Amino acid sequence: MSREPSIKGEDQVEEPIEERKEDERFAWNLRPLTLSEYIGQKDVVESLQIALTAALKRNEPVEHILLHGPPGLGKTTLAHIIANEMQSKITHTAGPALEKPIDIVGILSNLDSGEVLFIDEIHRLSRTVEEYLYSAMEDFEVNFIYGKGAFAKTLPYQLKHFTMVGATTRAGMLTPPLRDRFGMIYHLDYYSPDELAKVVKRSAGILGVSIDEDGSMEIAKRSRGTPRIANRLLRRVRDYAEVNADGKITRKLADEALSKEGVDHAGLDRLDRMYLKTIMENYNGGPVGVEALAATINEESNTLVDVVEPFLLKTGFVIRTPAGRRIGDTGRNHLGYPSESGPQQRLL
Ligand code: ADE
Repeated sequence: MSREPSIKGEDQVEEPIEERKEDERFAWNLRPLTLSEYIGQKDVVESLQIALTAALKRNEPVEHILLHGPPGLGKTTLAHIIANEMQSKITHTAGPALEKPIDIVGILSNLDSGEVLFIDEIHRLSRTVEEYLYSAMEDFEVNFIYGKGAFAKTLPYQLKHFTMVGATTRAGMLTPPLRDRFGMIYHLDYYSPDELAKVVKRSAGILGVSIDEDGSMEIAKRSRGTPRIANRLLRRVRDYAEVNADGKITRKLADEALSKEGVDHAGLDRLDRMYLKTIMENYNGGPVGVEALAATINEESNTLVDVVEPFLLKTGFVIRTPAGRRIGDTGRNHLGYPSESGPQQRLL
């Protein structure tokens, strides 16, 4: 199968990982620091508020917490809020950075009681590190290994009662023994347009950008339910407003700026549209496996699964079946094709 993008006439898609790095650089001053400032995820916030308040009252560390959900919904932000609310330090690392027990033992032994160890992409831990973490999480004990081969000795080492906060986009990839060691497991879901409009207004306030209600809602509706995207689009629209107008963001201006950025009215960007068009035009609407799709559009299959698909699945643009991905009627209509069942039947 060709690795050339088979969709012609579309600009080169942006690299999502680079986008994320850019977002991370700009995000820090926009991040809420407390649960009361945090917008959306009401059930998660309420439950966390109780757990953190109770732990503080008992003067105990809070139990290990697993956060899962699509990228950009605030898992890292919540981890930092947890540490902040517990008035403790946070150490931030990620699954792919931890290959061997030696990579984590120094971090663990330096943690003080109540401190937070945040492991992003926890589903990407190596098997040996994951197994090493079991006793650290459950009994706050690790084995130091010294010497080699038949002469290797282990020395048990007592850790302080830290709190692990794990984040993952793929809860299903966690092994049951690791998942069972978390006392609280929260799923973050996509934000509603109203919630995202609040996020946009809050961020605009921090950035000193003038924006009206309709302008905030326009950005919110085109942000794929994701605060990280809302904040990124706000920065793009702000640039556009400063160059092409008096800096004030209205609905009309947001619409112009976002259309120029390649973000359509449903919030889909070039990569989303390329994904949909490929299923429709190269695979006759599907079903098609994700690896074949990834090869056709010359994109990593992990990027499709983690970044592109969750919102398209949630909104019915795409349907996942045992035989592969199929385009949904919403997706067909979005590309200007009739529904699969035909317009008449759809009315029944
Ligand atoms: N910025 C990004 N995510 C946010 C959230 N959930 N609440 C407030 N501000 C945010």
